Amino acid sequence: MAIDGTVNATADREVAGRFEMPTTVDDLHRSGMGDSSLPAIDVKDLRVYYDSEAGIVKAVDGVSFTLEQGERLALVGESGCGKTTLGMALLKLTKAPGYIDGGQILLDGRDLVPFDEESMRLARLAEVALVTQSAMNALNPVMRIEDQIIDGLVDHGIKDTKENLRSHIHDLLRRVGLRESVGRMYPHELSGGMKQRVAIATGTSMNPKVIVADEPTSALDVVVQRQVMMTLSRVQRDTGAAVILIGHDMGLVAQFADRIGVMYAGKLVDIGTVQQIIEEPKHPYTRLLINSVPDLEEKRERLEGIPGIPPPLVDLPPGCVFAPRCPSVEDVCLEISPRDVDTGDDRRVMCHLFDREVEMAGSEVG
Ligand SMILES: Nc1ncnc2c1ncn2[C@@H]1O[C@H](COP(=O)(O)OP(=O)(O)OP(=O)(O)O)[C@@H](O)[C@H]1O
Ligand code: SF4
Ligand SMILES: [Mg+2]
Repeated sequence: MAIDGTVNATADREVAGRFEMPTTVDDLHRSGMGDSSLPAIDVKDLRVYYDSEAGIVKAVDGVSFTLEQGERLALVGESGCGKTTLGMALLKLTKAPGYIDGGQILLDGRDLVPFDEESMRLARLAEVALVTQSAMNALNPVMRIEDQIIDGLVDHGIKDTKENLRSHIHDLLRRVGLRESVGRMYPHELSGGMKQRVAIATGTSMNPKVIVADEPTSALDVVVQRQVMMTLSRVQRDTGAAVILIGHDMGLVAQFADRIGVMYAGKLVDIGTVQQIIEEPKHPYTRLLINSVPDLEEKRERLEGIPGIPPPLVDLPPGCVFAPRCPSVEDVCLEISPRDVDTGDDRRVMCHLFDREVEMAGSEVG
């Protein structure tokens, strides 16, 4: 409190010295982009484990990636490879028996891992937001849509007139392609696609810098899926947020993303631009994943499935996690884990074959 009795706005807007929090709708319009010299999110050697009777499940095992401001990264991989565990950890929503074992999640330069729950609660929505396939079912059935969104804003310290708050909600609804009048409706009056648009409007109501969208359309039919993806695209462009889109459908995510990260057994085994991943897949798992998608390469003569199943993530044997299923496996793969090889052109691959290719190219240049 200042000497004249007014609230010290700067102190009020800081969350335990972590982020400057908006307090009015006007502040929200100004927020969104962070320090443009920093990546939107920089994940370093993140490990997220679950304690289980069988042992420690290493669901996310040393994952690192950087996402620039406004960039769109898709994360793909078979069921159980750790995509949701990673997405939830980025918001520190990991629940017991899961825990973050180590690593860093730098959001606009600040590491979220040591954040306490109250700082994290405020950072969610304001800095990093989550949209899931079940988000539309999380709507309160007895509250009008606009009151639900306003509740979220007030809960995050936004104090403004009803008129300003309503006008902000109407802007949000229009941005996701819904009429203002949807704000006065109850969830049961909306279709699945409309509810998911409301979930996107809610998730972006405080202009977060990063949006984690975990299979946001998988509960919807194909036509509505595409519409909701277009909505997410438009919102991303309007807000400038960076988006991490988690999905199974390589075709759908490739249309949305700038880069694709391929996860296998808790590791990020391949990451590159959409063009690099689709046109020049390097990792043997990425190649198989692409060959198993019907509409990516029309010229392909037949679709290939991926033989075998992913390993249980407890007590993984030494060597490459993909070795038991890899058509290119060599002796070295059974004993030594491949390094995460950075080729310098924004591409990283975790595979001995690629490591050798890069080394040979280096020695030719030298
Ligand atoms: N509560 C839990 N206790 C123990 N293991 C868990 C728990 N939740 C998830 N796991 C394990 O963590 C691993 C990763 O699961 P996760 O849900 O993150 O995968 P996913 O890639 O999102 O899969 P999907 O594509 O099916 O959504 C799996 O092996 C899963 O069995
Ligand atoms: S390191 Fe070996 S087993 Fe692993 S993906 Fe590469 S070639 Fe296959
Ligand atoms: Mg999942």
